[in-house]
Amino acid sequence: MIKKAIYPGTFDPVTYGHLDIVKRGVEIFQELIVGIAENPKKRPLFTVEERREMFIESLKEIGLKGKVKVKTFNSLLVEFAKKEGAVAILRGIRIVSDMDHEFTMASLNRKLYPEIETVFLMPSDDYAYLSSSAVREIAFYGGDVSQFVPKAVERRLKEKFKNLSQSR
Ligand code: COA
Repeated sequence: MIKKAIYPGTFDPVTYGHLDIVKRGVEIFQELIVGIAENPKKRPLFTVEERREMFIESLKEIGLKGKVKVKTFNSLLVEFAKKEGAVAILRGIRIVSDMDHEFTMASLNRKLYPEIETVFLMPSDDYAYLSSSAVREIAFYGGDVSQFVPKAVERRLKEKFKNLSQSR
Protein backbone atom coordinates (compact mmCIF):
# COMPACT_ATOMS: atom_id res chain seq x y z
CA MET A 1 0.00 0.00 0.00
CA ILE A 2 1.24 3.51 -0.77
CA LYS A 3 1.77 5.22 2.57
CA LYS A 4 3.43 8.59 2.36
CA ALA A 5 3.53 10.88 -0.66
CA ILE A 6 5.06 14.26 -1.42
CA TYR A 7 3.18 16.82 -3.50
CA PRO A 8 6.00 19.13 -4.65
CA GLY A 9 5.87 22.45 -6.44
CA THR A 10 6.89 26.06 -6.37
CA PHE A 11 3.37 27.21 -5.44
CA ASP A 12 4.01 30.88 -6.22
CA PRO A 13 1.21 31.18 -5.16
CA VAL A 14 -0.95 28.13 -4.44
CA THR A 15 -4.15 28.10 -6.53
CA TYR A 16 -7.45 26.21 -6.43
CA GLY A 17 -5.90 23.93 -9.08
CA HIS A 18 -3.16 22.81 -6.67
CA LEU A 19 -5.71 22.47 -3.86
CA ASP A 20 -7.87 20.30 -6.10
CA ILE A 21 -4.93 17.88 -6.42
CA VAL A 22 -4.38 17.97 -2.63
CA LYS A 23 -8.05 17.10 -2.05
CA ARG A 24 -7.73 14.10 -4.37
CA GLY A 25 -4.38 13.13 -2.86
CA VAL A 26 -5.64 12.90 0.72
CA GLU A 27 -8.26 10.39 -0.45
CA ILE A 28 -5.55 8.12 -1.86
CA PHE A 29 -2.52 8.35 0.39
CA GLN A 30 -2.27 7.67 4.11
CA GLU A 31 -0.11 10.75 4.52
CA LEU A 32 0.43 13.66 2.17
CA ILE A 33 3.19 16.23 2.57
CA VAL A 34 3.20 19.37 0.47
CA GLY A 35 6.82 20.14 -0.42
CA ILE A 36 7.41 23.76 -1.35
CA ALA A 37 10.62 24.11 -3.35
CA GLU A 38 12.58 27.31 -2.76
CA ASN A 39 13.33 27.22 -6.51
CA PRO A 40 15.43 30.43 -6.77
CA LYS A 41 15.89 29.84 -10.52
CA LYS A 42 12.21 30.67 -11.00
CA ARG A 43 12.75 33.96 -9.12
CA PRO A 44 9.52 33.55 -7.14
CA LEU A 45 7.39 36.56 -6.25
CA PHE A 46 6.82 35.25 -2.71
CA THR A 47 9.50 33.98 -0.32
CA VAL A 48 9.37 30.31 0.46
CA GLU A 49 8.10 31.11 3.98
CA GLU A 50 5.29 33.30 2.55
CA ARG A 51 4.36 30.47 0.18
CA ARG A 52 4.27 28.03 3.10
CA GLU A 53 2.06 30.35 5.17
CA MET A 54 -0.32 30.88 2.24
CA PHE A 55 -0.60 27.13 1.71
CA ILE A 56 -1.46 26.56 5.38
CA GLU A 57 -4.03 29.40 5.31
CA SER A 58 -5.52 27.94 2.12
CA LEU A 59 -5.81 24.46 3.65
CA LYS A 60 -7.73 26.05 6.52
CA GLU A 61 -10.16 27.65 4.06
CA ILE A 62 -10.92 24.30 2.42
CA GLY A 63 -11.17 22.41 5.73
CA LEU A 64 -7.96 20.41 5.37
CA LYS A 65 -5.80 22.13 7.97
CA GLY A 66 -3.96 19.55 10.05
CA LYS A 67 -4.66 16.79 7.51
CA VAL A 68 -1.71 17.73 5.30
CA LYS A 69 1.80 18.77 6.39
CA VAL A 70 3.41 21.69 4.58
CA LYS A 71 7.21 21.75 4.43
CA THR A 72 9.83 23.64 2.45
CA PHE A 73 12.97 22.26 0.84
CA ASN A 74 16.03 23.44 -1.00
CA SER A 75 17.54 20.25 -2.39
CA LEU A 76 16.85 17.65 -5.01
CA LEU A 77 13.24 16.53 -4.76
CA VAL A 78 14.29 12.88 -4.36
CA GLU A 79 16.54 13.78 -1.42
CA PHE A 80 13.62 15.53 0.26
CA ALA A 81 11.36 12.54 -0.46
CA LYS A 82 13.96 10.15 0.97
CA LYS A 83 14.39 12.26 4.11
CA GLU A 84 10.63 12.29 4.64
CA GLY A 85 10.29 8.56 4.04
CA ALA A 86 7.91 9.11 1.12
CA VAL A 87 7.36 6.35 -1.40
CA ALA A 88 5.58 8.46 -4.00
CA ILE A 89 5.68 11.87 -5.67
CA LEU A 90 2.28 13.26 -6.56
CA ARG A 91 2.01 15.55 -9.60
CA GLY A 92 -0.99 17.05 -11.36
CA ILE A 93 -1.35 16.90 -15.13
CA ARG A 94 -3.62 19.64 -16.43
CA ILE A 95 -3.32 19.39 -20.17
CA VAL A 96 -1.53 17.11 -22.63
CA SER A 97 1.33 19.58 -23.03
CA ASP A 98 2.24 19.12 -19.34
CA MET A 99 3.16 15.53 -20.11
CA ASP A 100 6.54 16.07 -21.80
CA HIS A 101 7.89 18.00 -18.83
CA GLU A 102 6.31 15.69 -16.25
CA PHE A 103 7.51 12.47 -17.90
CA THR A 104 11.04 13.87 -18.14
CA MET A 105 11.03 14.83 -14.45
CA ALA A 106 9.54 11.49 -13.39
CA SER A 107 12.14 9.55 -15.42
CA LEU A 108 15.03 11.57 -14.00
CA ASN A 109 13.71 11.21 -10.48
CA ARG A 110 13.42 7.45 -11.00
CA LYS A 111 17.02 7.28 -12.22
CA LEU A 112 18.17 9.23 -9.15
CA TYR A 113 16.05 7.21 -6.72
CA PRO A 114 14.61 4.02 -8.23
CA GLU A 115 12.47 3.28 -5.16
CA ILE A 116 10.26 6.33 -5.74
CA GLU A 117 7.09 6.23 -7.85
CA THR A 118 5.53 9.29 -9.48
CA VAL A 119 1.74 9.29 -9.42
CA PHE A 120 -0.20 11.63 -11.74
CA LEU A 121 -3.66 12.97 -11.03
CA MET A 122 -5.88 15.19 -13.16
CA PRO A 123 -7.36 18.32 -11.59
CA SER A 124 -10.96 19.24 -12.30
CA ASP A 125 -11.58 20.65 -15.82
CA ASP A 126 -12.34 23.98 -14.14
CA TYR A 127 -8.62 24.39 -13.39
CA ALA A 128 -7.08 22.87 -16.51
CA TYR A 129 -5.98 26.29 -17.78
CA LEU A 130 -4.86 27.69 -14.45
CA SER A 131 -1.25 28.47 -13.51
CA SER A 132 0.46 30.51 -10.81
CA SER A 133 2.02 32.85 -13.37
CA ALA A 134 -1.41 33.61 -14.90
CA VAL A 135 -2.73 34.42 -11.42
CA ARG A 136 0.27 36.68 -10.70
CA GLU A 137 -0.25 38.51 -13.97
CA ILE A 138 -4.00 39.06 -13.45
CA ALA A 139 -3.33 40.32 -9.90
CA PHE A 140 -0.49 42.56 -11.09
CA TYR A 141 -2.92 44.41 -13.40
CA GLY A 142 -5.54 44.64 -10.65
CA GLY A 143 -7.81 41.92 -12.08
CA ASP A 144 -10.13 39.75 -10.00
CA VAL A 145 -8.46 36.47 -8.98
CA SER A 146 -11.11 35.37 -6.47
CA GLN A 147 -12.24 32.41 -8.59
CA PHE A 148 -8.67 31.11 -8.87
CA VAL A 149 -7.18 31.43 -5.38
CA PRO A 150 -8.37 31.35 -1.76
CA LYS A 151 -9.04 34.62 0.05
CA ALA A 152 -5.76 34.50 2.00
CA VAL A 153 -3.79 34.32 -1.26
CA GLU A 154 -5.85 37.08 -2.88
CA ARG A 155 -5.09 39.31 0.10
CA ARG A 156 -1.35 38.54 -0.04
CA LEU A 157 -1.21 39.25 -3.77
CA LYS A 158 -2.84 42.65 -3.22
CA GLU A 159 -0.38 43.47 -0.42
CA LYS A 160 2.63 42.29 -2.42
CA PHE A 161 1.81 44.35 -5.51
CA LYS A 162 0.91 47.37 -3.40
CA ASN A 163 4.27 47.16 -1.59
CA LEU A 164 6.17 46.58 -4.83
CA SER A 165 4.56 49.59 -6.54
CA GLN A 166 5.32 51.77 -3.46
CA SER A 167 8.99 50.73 -3.48
CA ARG A 168 9.39 51.65 -7.17
N1 COA B 1 -3.17 23.74 -10.79
C1 COA B 1 -2.72 24.94 -11.15
N2 COA B 1 -1.48 25.13 -11.63
C2 COA B 1 -0.68 24.07 -11.73
C3 COA B 1 -1.09 22.78 -11.36
C4 COA B 1 -2.41 22.62 -10.88
N3 COA B 1 -2.90 21.45 -10.51
N4 COA B 1 -0.08 21.93 -11.59
C5 COA B 1 0.93 22.66 -12.07
N5 COA B 1 0.57 23.95 -12.16
C6 COA B 1 1.37 25.07 -12.67
C7 COA B 1 2.10 25.80 -11.58
O1 COA B 1 1.26 26.78 -11.01
C8 COA B 1 3.26 26.40 -12.33
O2 COA B 1 2.86 27.57 -12.98
P1 COA B 1 3.88 28.72 -13.38
O3 COA B 1 5.09 28.08 -13.97
O4 COA B 1 3.05 29.48 -14.32
O5 COA B 1 4.19 29.47 -12.14
C9 COA B 1 3.56 25.35 -13.41
O6 COA B 1 2.39 24.56 -13.51
C10 COA B 1 4.73 24.50 -13.03
O7 COA B 1 4.51 23.98 -11.74
P2 COA B 1 5.57 23.90 -10.56
O8 COA B 1 4.84 23.36 -9.43
O9 COA B 1 6.31 25.16 -10.38
O10 COA B 1 6.44 22.78 -11.08
P3 COA B 1 7.81 22.84 -11.75
O11 COA B 1 7.63 22.15 -13.03
O12 COA B 1 8.45 24.18 -11.72
O13 COA B 1 8.57 21.87 -10.74
C11 COA B 1 9.50 21.09 -8.71
C12 COA B 1 8.67 22.16 -9.43
C13 COA B 1 9.61 21.53 -7.29
C14 COA B 1 8.79 19.74 -8.73
C15 COA B 1 10.89 20.95 -9.39
O14 COA B 1 11.41 22.22 -9.66
C16 COA B 1 11.86 20.21 -8.48
O15 COA B 1 11.79 19.01 -8.33
N6 COA B 1 12.80 20.97 -7.86
C17 COA B 1 13.80 20.40 -6.96
C18 COA B 1 15.15 20.20 -7.68
C19 COA B 1 15.14 18.90 -8.42
O16 COA B 1 15.01 17.83 -7.84
N7 COA B 1 15.36 18.97 -9.73
C20 COA B 1 15.43 17.82 -10.58
C21 COA B 1 14.07 17.45 -11.08
S1 COA B 1 14.21 16.18 -12.29
